Amino acid sequence: MSLRVSHHLLLCATASKAACCNPDVGKASWARLKEMVKQLDLENVERPEGVVLRSKVDCLRICSDGPIMLIWPDGIWYGGVSAERIEAILREHVIGGQPREGWIIRRTANK
Ligand code: FES
Repeated sequence: MSLRVSHHLLLCATASKAACCNPDVGKASWARLKEMVKQLDLENVERPEGVVLRSKVDCLRICSDGPIMLIWPDGIWYGGVSAERIEAILREHVIGGQPREGWIIRRTANK
């Protein structure tokens, strides 16, 4: 069975070395991400754009100014992704297609 995926969100929030953010800030950010993905119905397999996957990762090799979120396939890396920033990133970037410029710390391309 194939699953259509619109975005995959990789969040370094509770890294074992806790190098990029305070673990409490990271935990709150991850909890908010789970809550908002559900609330905005982004895991719905009937979603025409595809589902939004989320994964907690141990390190994205930025290691400062976290929590760090990488959004695939856009190659957009956000820094300072506290719980307060999660909803705006989901609504504006993931749903609206407009990345939040001021919070971007890196861009990568796959072509
Ligand atoms: S510990 Fe978060 S990017 Fe390295």
